[in-house]
Amino acid sequence: MKLMNSSASLEERREDFPALGRRRNGMPPVYLDNACTTLVPRQVMESLQECYANYPACGGRRSRHWFAEEVSDRIEGNPDKGIKGSRRILAEFIHAGSENEIVFTLNTTHALNLVALGFPFRSGDVVLLTDKEHNSNLVPWLRLQKAGLIRVDYTVPDDRDLFDLEAFEGKLKNGRVRLVSMGHTSNVTGYTLPAREIIRIAHQYGALVLLDSAQAVPHQVIDVQDLDVDFLAFSLHKMCGPRGVGVLYGKKDLLGRYLQEEEGGGFVLEPVFLGGGTVADATYSSYRLLDPPECFEAGIQNYPALIAAGAAVKYVQQIGMERISAHEGRLNRFLTGELMNRYGDTGWFRIFGPQDAEQRGGILTFEVKRPNAVRIAEELSRKRNVMIRDGVFCVHSYFNERFGQGWTLPRSHDEHRMVYRVSCYFYNTVEECRIFLETLEEIFRERSYL
Ligand SMILES: Cc1ncc(COP(=O)(O)O)c(C=O)c1O
Repeated sequence: MKLMNSSASLEERREDFPALGRRRNGMPPVYLDNACTTLVPRQVMESLQECYANYPACGGRRSRHWFAEEVSDRIEGNPDKGIKGSRRILAEFIHAGSENEIVFTLNTTHALNLVALGFPFRSGDVVLLTDKEHNSNLVPWLRLQKAGLIRVDYTVPDDRDLFDLEAFEGKLKNGRVRLVSMGHTSNVTGYTLPAREIIRIAHQYGALVLLDSAQAVPHQVIDVQDLDVDFLAFSLHKMCGPRGVGVLYGKKDLLGRYLQEEEGGGFVLEPVFLGGGTVADATYSSYRLLDPPECFEAGIQNYPALIAAGAAVKYVQQIGMERISAHEGRLNRFLTGELMNRYGDTGWFRIFGPQDAEQRGGILTFEVKRPNAVRIAEELSRKRNVMIRDGVFCVHSYFNERFGQGWTLPRSHDEHRMVYRVSCYFYNTVEECRIFLETLEEIFRERSYL
């Protein structure tokens, strides 16, 4: 595996990403869709390749042979051989107290569903969300509401679109909130919630907190113990990692604790999928589960990807999470300043969320309210290989509420309004932002918006 110099400049890191070396029509890619998924460095691909080539066996200490040992060592670690496994690497990355608090999942969505389906809700419990949840942290709760088990409620932000702690506390005082489940960093606005305060208040009222940290963990230092969060979910593919790996963090006494009979029995969080790898023993009429995290990881796993997840974490750690946040902030300030200077007074251009770029990490989402405002993303890609996202970013509920029911099928209606999202990561450059800005300006002129 190629060694990485931790003091290398961010520009030099670009060489680690083969996709950035591609050319179409003589021009490089300008990849600004990182909130969707990130590019993958050679180091992560080499880790995958190494596993498939050299030890394509099962993990989970099922088989006791050479190849299986090499897989299990790289995931569960082997102190005798000085190998730190991916589970430990992930635990240290988010500052978990124990690697047994790290459950590997397919992605954030899978992790959130594990909580939704495994949590011992009682009829009438309330799950409290924000007004801007990704479908992955909305639909699983709506499903439970539809089944008559819980009620879903929402907190509303203040008029600067910042989290309103007072309104939040009001909800906790009035309702039967059992679980607070919130997008830690919004994939629409890039705004990061005051999670520590939220968790402190929720705990005062006896509610547990699940953070959907899909957009937070890849971009900033996360310390689950300092946050005192109960559950937290994220995906590796949003941080240079392999596709198909996510993490559900759960406090040890929640993942592993059996409830007393008078509390209803069973786990605080019940494993939803059972089968191979989840049980210590079984008879024709009964089974005994393994301790967490194993009881949550049913069946043969994507072992090469779990190993490569460790490589991805090492990669971003060598860059430094503070450095990543700072760089994204610089790019966002530049983009926000340029866009607001050019179009801030037009009346048809608007940035979503807090107006201060400092509050929006590496995400900048804007609305264009002009005739034929759709398909700008396609044109940016066609003209200069600039890749951004348009549409509703899997946050249909928010856009339906704001723009009117039915707006969320933008390609099939002729509303003269569209929303676009630019999202940066550490390998993006100011030059790339300039290419985006110039091409956008060209499109606006061609469409006679200016
Ligand atoms: C805030 C948020 N939550 C959840 C998800 C779902 O992530 P995944 O598709 O990896 O499950 C995303 C992905 O865009 C997201 O931005």
